Parts: sequence; structure tokens; C-alpha cells
Amino acid sequence: MIIIGFESSCDETGVALACTSRGLLAHALHSQIAMHREYGGVVPELASRDHIRRILPLTRQVLEQAGLDVDDIDAVAYTAGPGLAGALLVGASVAQSFAWSRGLPAIPIHHLEGHLLSPLLAEPRPEFPFVALLVSGGHTQLMRVDAVGSYELLGETLDDAAGEAFDKTAKLMGLGYPGGPALSKLAEQGDSAAFDLPRPMLHSGDLDFSFSGLKTAVLTRLKAMEKGNGTLSDQQRADLAASTEAAIVDVLARKSIKAMKQTGLKRLVVAGGVGANRHLRAQLKQAMERLKGEVYFPPLDLCTDNGAMIAYAGALRIQAGLARLDGNNHAFTVRPRWDLHDVCIRPEKEQAAVQG
Ligand code: KG4
Ligand code: ZN
Repeated sequence: MIIIGFESSCDETGVALACTSRGLLAHALHSQIAMHREYGGVVPELASRDHIRRILPLTRQVLEQAGLDVDDIDAVAYTAGPGLAGALLVGASVAQSFAWSRGLPAIPIHHLEGHLLSPLLAEPRPEFPFVALLVSGGHTQLMRVDAVGSYELLGETLDDAAGEAFDKTAKLMGLGYPGGPALSKLAEQGDSAAFDLPRPMLHSGDLDFSFSGLKTAVLTRLKAMEKGNGTLSDQQRADLAASTEAAIVDVLARKSIKAMKQTGLKRLVVAGGVGANRHLRAQLKQAMERLKGEVYFPPLDLCTDNGAMIAYAGALRIQAGLARLDGNNHAFTVRPRWDLHDVCIRPEKEQAAVQG
């Protein structure tokens, strides 16, 4: 079966074609970063309008890339949440109209499930079960993944996500949006041992995270330096960036290793925008080598938001028998806040409890 996937949950419009037997066939992306940059962050209304402008040209582009026609498409997948309501509505309405007009099933996909399964698009492909470290702009979670649709939360952030920690500290330092790549670039010139920044919850005994204290710590260092010399030298800024990056990466890596030890699993999968971070990749690779395990990442261009992971998650859900293919009701809602647990295959015991 051939599935077209639409992603429009935040500031990237993505469209892709995936096949249940051949994997990813084509994908196209338009990033709104340049448009939002002058505002220092995502402006939801501008994001929605831009998704409207981009989504159909990108659809034509992927069909052309794959040498396919609309008649070749068997199902439609789209991000139904979580994300910005207006932005989600663009992808959802295009997907549902497309499905309705062609008499096709439409499969709502949880954005985080898309990220979670995206490392399966790379070679070598991780086998189930694995531990997933999901590090996007809004989420930081460690999960045990036993199969498509079978996800157990092991730990998560109690406040800011790792991506948010990058973005907010970068903003404090006057770096551009998005903060992660900008801070990481500046950090290349710096000394990561220059500032002793907190590594919150490292010894909390569980697999939860907390990053909000890091912002305050960075702000305090910034203020102290500004007070001392009036302004910050380029080297001081680079040192602070490197120390911040090291603190975030250190916590992520050490908690991931703790999750490996706790579950006894040998495969770690990293997904989400922060998964593009070079230091995180290197540190996890080293740590997993020591554990005699393997670490898997999505292809670099599929770490941040994209349509490929949505089309592919649709294909995997169909293969796993987890997608409704008979529905012809195209009324829909989007879920700006949506717990991943809602799309999990529930153990029978739990289902019985829900049904009362
Ligand atoms: O997964 P994603 O594209 O969007 C969400 O679903 O949130 O993640 C975006 C996040 C942003 O916080 C961005 O700063 C961060 O990923 N990010 C990075 C890097 N590239 C993107 N953080 C650290 N290092 C990077 N190279
Ligand atoms: Zn995302």
C-alpha cells in the first residue's frame, strides 16, 4: 500500500510518500525558520498561513519525485497532534479532504510516534525491543518500545524539555532561533569545563529530568559576568555555550544509560530535533560501546520535523493492523495536547478497566 503523509504541527511543512513494502518513496519539506527568525520564535498565525501556502506544492513535488499519480495512493496519514492547533488544522483538513475526495482511509498520527519510529528509516534498522530517548522541542522522554504501538514511559521531564533548555538558554545569550543549532555552533569554539553548571536530577534515582534550573544558572552567570566586565567577550560566550551544551547532553546521556541498565535492553534509539546534536550522538555512541550495545539515530535530515516520519508511521500502523482502513467518516478534530499513551495498544486488563 502507498501512503501519503502530511506534517504541519509547528514550523515545518512536510509531505511524504511511504510504501508498506518498500519504505520511504519520497519526501519534501519546507522549513519556516527564516520567516519566524525575526520574531525570535514561532508565531502561530504566521505558521498556519505558511502551511496553507506550502502544502499543495509540496504534495505535487513528492508525487513527481516518486513518479506516482494521485490514483496510486491507498491511504492518507497526517499529524493530528500534539502541536499548534491552527497549524495542525491545515494538515488535518488537507489530509481528510484528500481522503474523502478519493474514498481513502485517513489515519491520524501522533507526532511523537512519528519521531519515535523515525530511526527505523535508517540503515541499519533497530529491531524491537529498544529504549527510545525522545528529545524534541516540547518533549523529553525515555520510553521502552516493544513493538509499533507498544510504548511504556520510563521517565520524562518535569518541566522544560531538553530542546526548550537549548532554545531558552540560547535566547538568554542573544543567539538566534532555533536555539539548539545556534548554541551548539557557538559551543564549538568554547571550553565545556569553563563553567560548572548544574546537572539536575542526575542522582534522583529515577529516569525523570528537569531542565528549568539550568536557565536560571545560565542567567546568573551571564549577569555576574556583565557586572564584572560590562560586556561579555566572545570567548566567554563560547565557553558558556559549551558548558550549557555539556550539562544538557550529560544529563540526557547518563539517564539514557541508566534506562538501558534498568531495562536490561541493548538497543538505544534517539529521536527528535535534539537528536541532531553532535555531542549527544558522540557521547551516546561511546557509552553504548562500553555497554556492548548499539545506538541508532534517524538520518540527520529526519531528526527535526518532517513528513517522512508521518507517512512511515502510517505505513507501520497499517502493517501492524493498528489503523482503521474501513472508515468513511471524515469528520475530524486535532489534539494540540495529546498523551502518547492514548495511541498505545492497551494490555487487555487495562482495556477491560476502560470499558468498565
Ligand atoms: O523535533 P523538533 O524538530 O520539533 C518538535 O517536535 O519540537 O525539535 C526541535 C528542537 C528545538 O528545540 C531545537 O533547538 C532542537 O530541536 N535542535 C537541536 C539541534 N537541532 C535542533 N538542539 C541541539 N542541537 C542541535 N543540533
Ligand atoms: Zn517534532
